[in-house]
Amino acid sequence: MPGDGIGPEIIAEGVKVIEAVADKNNFKIDWVTYNNGADKYLKTGELITEETLKEIKQTCKAIYLGALGDPRCKPGILEKGILLKTRFYFDQYVNLRPIKLLGGVDCPLKGKGPKDINFTVIRENTEDFYVGIGNRAKIGKSKQELEVIRDLYKVKFNLDIENTDEIAYQIGVMSKQGAQRVIKYGFELAKKEKVETAYFVDKANVLSDIYGFWRENVEIIAKQYPKIKHEFMFVDAITMWFVKNPEWFKVVITPNMFGDIITDLGAMIQGGLGLAPGGNINPEGISMFEPIHGSAPKYKGMNIADPLATIWAGAMMLDEIGQPKSAEIIVKAIESVLKEGKVRTKDLGGKNTTSEMGDAVVKKL
Ligand code: IPM
Ligand code: MG
Repeated sequence: MPGDGIGPEIIAEGVKVIEAVADKNNFKIDWVTYNNGADKYLKTGELITEETLKEIKQTCKAIYLGALGDPRCKPGILEKGILLKTRFYFDQYVNLRPIKLLGGVDCPLKGKGPKDINFTVIRENTEDFYVGIGNRAKIGKSKQELEVIRDLYKVKFNLDIENTDEIAYQIGVMSKQGAQRVIKYGFELAKKEKVETAYFVDKANVLSDIYGFWRENVEIIAKQYPKIKHEFMFVDAITMWFVKNPEWFKVVITPNMFGDIITDLGAMIQGGLGLAPGGNINPEGISMFEPIHGSAPKYKGMNIADPLATIWAGAMMLDEIGQPKSAEIIVKAIESVLKEGKVRTKDLGGKNTTSEMGDAVVKKL
């Protein structure tokens, strides 16, 4: 699903690299292209239909997404109507975001190198303030009904609103199962990687209902992992520590909205948005892989965007669909291109094109 803006250009490079590695390692990928995005929406009014999602469910192993978002559409239409819709439909409850500074990349943090910035953020991906329920109410009395319907549960809010000024509100929801499954995923990763301390993000000092509940569920799951320490950090504080002492972190587990925020910061300390990949994972279902940056409409069609985040996301996809060796060599190839420093896109201070960067990775493979 190439998507909008620079999406098609960077996905083309990702596909090129995956084809090269598949050739080398003797497997074959069948691609099906879904052109959901701004153009299709503006022409037909379609974001992504249940039929399309069902078809993907029945025929595909994973989704490789470029980026969504276009200035011709109101903010949120494509993001909510396609990206979040797909994350929720496939119940991709883990958003996996490696924050790793590769060799050869300039780090904006003074004195920090690849050894210091090498961790994974696990962002809950279906709940919290992302459930999409909120509304506005004009002055006076009104009733509003809001519903969240998920595979795991159904919640209905019946609101009697009485207000003397116009208001808007947004409701965050966290469920016990929804929180526990991602917390468990985090502890499992910590166990696999022999991590001493898993860090959990919240804002339990202010939003104490929702994030107090998060903490409670962390404590419950932590009992199953007596060898792994766990530490809570407020979201404002963790942004400070990401900058000051990133070497503390190996595994960071966070509710959805804070995860969105801290992973853009994470992207910067790993060398910029051009280098930050992500996976929307359903460990039992269909996962979706994408760069964490957006569609950068002003660079559309110019062949200057850095495709490395997308190529790296492609490697994560291969890992998830049972080709871990291929995943590993793609990341190694990216790193050798960066270390060599001969081919650099604009974001890395160079003049090379998107496709030259893709070619450079293929050559290293
Ligand atoms: C991200 C993006 C999305 C999010 C937007 C585009 C809906 O910022 O993947 O981090 O907030 O999750
Ligand atoms: Mg984001």
